[in-house]
Formats: sequence, structure tokens, C-alpha cells
Amino acid sequence: MSVVNFAGVSKRFEGESQGYAVKDLDLSIAPGELVAVVGKTGCGKSTMFNLLIGLIAPSAGEIRVLGCNPFADFDALAGKISVVFQNDRLLPWRSALENVAYGLELRHVARERRLAVGRDWLKRLGLEAHQDKYPHSLSGGMRQRVSIARAFATDPEILLCDEPFSALDELTGASLRSEFRRLVQETHKTGVFVTHSIREAMDIGDRILVFCAPGHVAAEFSLPASLRELGEEGLKQRILEVMGGTGA
Ligand SMILES: Nc1ncnc2c1ncn2[C@@H]1O[C@H](COP(=O)(O)OP(=O)(O)O)[C@@H](O)[C@H]1O
Ligand SMILES: [Mg+2]
Repeated sequence: MSVVNFAGVSKRFEGESQGYAVKDLDLSIAPGELVAVVGKTGCGKSTMFNLLIGLIAPSAGEIRVLGCNPFADFDALAGKISVVFQNDRLLPWRSALENVAYGLELRHVARERRLAVGRDWLKRLGLEAHQDKYPHSLSGGMRQRVSIARAFATDPEILLCDEPFSALDELTGASLRSEFRRLVQETHKTGVFVTHSIREAMDIGDRILVFCAPGHVAAEFSLPASLRELGEEGLKQRILEVMGGTGA
């Protein structure tokens, strides 16, 4: 059984943009997999992401997420999917701890319990000393740590990230990547990580799906098998070729 399945999915936006954002997309993600989706800006990654979380409906094709149609069964998936965006989307008037506990509050978990879970997750991300601070007094890296803690705190089955570390400096991004990977593995969750960086995709994924416009999977690589076969530079080059030669 796959956790996420797209079969022949296309998405076309009404209005001035003619053409498809996603076209004939097939993909399947197994339980416990951490899949990196890499592609140039504009190739349809975020559209795939929005289809997956049920924010938009496909123009054609079939999407199943945990056995549900994410657009039609939006409520059934509530709490089973957590998302980390590029912009941390923290609530500025809430402390780090209150932000992490917020998802549990929405799910009517009692205050003591949700604060305990929130503290635990902040601790796992090395932020126990900062739990009472407000987002504006935290660095960008810390704010993304809070977002990650918030995503895990509701104990979802799927974690989705849309370029969460793209705005951070390289070292901060690298340490958050390895922590995110470790936490997904430790908690046996399924992860989908969207990025435009080949480096990041190679660091994160058990599998790398290379997206090309209009949104479809142009190639895929399994790690570490592809690394063994092609070497690090070789794999990078192959992905770059598929992506179209520039960017990354
Ligand atoms: N809401 C929208 N309305 C019209 N066109 C859109 C909309 N969202 C995305 N697109 C178009 O779809 C294509 C893919 O965009 P997107 O999925 O955001 O790519 P990526 O995340 O890979 O940068 C782009 O050409 C973009 O302009
Ligand atoms: Mg995007």
C-alpha cells in the first residue's frame, strides 16, 4: 500500500496562464519513505504539493493520500498531514511553545498535555531555553526549528516540506536537514521534501524524484544505490542534466 499515489494527474489553472502546471504526473510513495522532489522554479512542485494536501483539485487523474481523496475528503486527512513551508508561518503573538502546541489546541488536546508535548518537541530540536520567546526574537533557523517541532507535535503520518530551508544560510540549512531526516526516521513517518537544490535533495532523500515542467517526474534515483553507482559528482551531474542543465 502506498501512502501517496498520483495516477495520471494533471492540473491546469483557469485564467491568463494557459498550459499545465502539472501534466500526466504519476508517483507513488511508500510508508516510511523520505522522498525528495527536486526541480527548477516553476516546474510544478508547489502545485503537486497543494494537490497532495487537498488545497486544490486536479483537472484530471486520481490522487490518493492515506486512502483518501485529499480534496474531497479534506477533513478526513486533518491532523494526518503536517506541513513545513519556506516562510515559517508562526503566529507572531504566540511564544515558541504556544506555537508548537497550537496544532494540538486545534485538536482539543488538554492544555497541560499539549504544553508537555510542545516542550518535549522543542527540547528535541534544541530549543528548550527559548520556549517562551516570540518569533520576532528568534533567528530564522530557530523559527524553522519551531516550525519543525510544530509539524511533529501533532504526530501526523505524513510530513511535507516545501523548500523549508531555502531562505537559510547553508550551514544552518545543512544542520536542519540532517535533523529533519533523523526525526522522520526515528518516528517512522513518511516524508515528502520539495526543494530546488540538488545538494539538499541528495542529503535528504531515500529517493529523489526529478521534476520537469510541466510537473511530471522526468527521472528518479534511489539512494544510496545511485550514489554507489555514479558517485556524488556523477549523480549531481545526472540530476542537473535531467533538470535542464542550469539552475540548482
Ligand atoms: N494559482 C495559480 N494560478 C495560475 N498559475 C499558477 C498558479 N500556481 C502556479 N501556477 C503556475 O504553474 C506553474 C508551476 O508553478 P509552481 O507549482 O509554483 O512551481 P514550483 O513550485 O516548482 O516553482 C508556474 O508556471 C506557475 O506560474
Ligand atoms: Mg514552489
